[in-house]
Amino acid sequence: MNPEKIETAFSLMNQTIELLQQKLDTSFFDAYIENAENLVDGAKVRVIDQTPDQETVAKIEQSYQELLTLGLEKEEWRKVTQLLLLKGSKQETLQPNHQLTPDSLGFLFVFLIEQLILDKKAPVRILDIAAGMGNLLLTIVNNLQLAGYTIDASGVDVDDTLLAIAASDSALMEETIQLFHQDSLQDLLVDPVDFAIGDLPVGFYPNDEKARQFLTSSEKEHTYAHHLLMEQAMTYVKNDGFGLFLLPSNFLETEQAPLLQQWLGKEVFLQGIIQLPDELFKSEHSRKSILIVQKNGDVAQQAEKVLLVKLPTLKDPSKVKDFFKKFEDWKSSNL
Ligand SMILES: C[S@@+](CC[C@H](N)C(=O)[O-])C[C@H]1O[C@@H](n2cnc3c(N)ncnc32)[C@H](O)[C@@H]1O
Repeated sequence: MNPEKIETAFSLMNQTIELLQQKLDTSFFDAYIENAENLVDGAKVRVIDQTPDQETVAKIEQSYQELLTLGLEKEEWRKVTQLLLLKGSKQETLQPNHQLTPDSLGFLFVFLIEQLILDKKAPVRILDIAAGMGNLLLTIVNNLQLAGYTIDASGVDVDDTLLAIAASDSALMEETIQLFHQDSLQDLLVDPVDFAIGDLPVGFYPNDEKARQFLTSSEKEHTYAHHLLMEQAMTYVKNDGFGLFLLPSNFLETEQAPLLQQWLGKEVFLQGIIQLPDELFKSEHSRKSILIVQKNGDVAQQAEKVLLVKLPTLKDPSKVKDFFKKFEDWKSSNL
């Protein structure tokens, strides 16, 4: 990865997005999508009713040519798109439930998935149940491909703008990811996968009638969306396959935790909880963990020792390495 190339690409894309935003009078994210679609569509600016004007079109297309001569690799494209989206998220004060999953966490998912792949030679099928802008899914897909795996990925999200960003970014990276714009709690058109993942939205799911179809549903109030999404995602996982979900660290202490535990004991095994470093979160209340569950099957059994580990930091490579070693040791004696 070449930092100078990334800086140049960021600055060129930032300029063209700002120009489009100004000339089309749109939000940052709509201009971002327009820009990415232009690039994919032969690096030509789409003109409707003589907007943008010819001079702007020429300026933007010149920048597109400079950008294409950089010859960005997939992961370089992703870095650039992530930086631009982070900038846009600040500019448009995106709500926490819509924010992209940063690299630091994406790489942890890559490590965990690689450790848990059951058949190293077969294509690995992955479903992101809350794909958002697609950064987590694309981090996983790109990096597992770089490690030599064939990946077949799908993502679902209820928000059309976020999913359009994911679609245009995967087109920029020439990834063929299947994306579905819908509520993930409705039936999905996805064949069984090896891994379900998600950086889950936190809050209540408003459709009680739908929620009632799930073991985790609450009779007293709206059910937690993250409980329902995990339960739903795991129904699309092959027997013995895994689910890796990012969710609030207090998930076993809430009022609805007993409902979640019913599901955990019945359809999946709770194999591990990785508490993420405090440094990543503004308050104790916002801390998150990665939950590892495994679907019942011929091979899967409850780990003798559930992995309960707190990652002290992601800033010190030796501490991260210690964690990797701990995980590998746990896996070889428990799964
Ligand atoms: C934290 S974001 C995911 C970020 C994503 N991993 C990324 O890297 O961009 C959570 C996502 O859950 C989505 N979401 C919330 N409720 C949903 C539902 N019922 N079905 C599908 N997606 C939902 C939101 O639209 C949001 O994009």
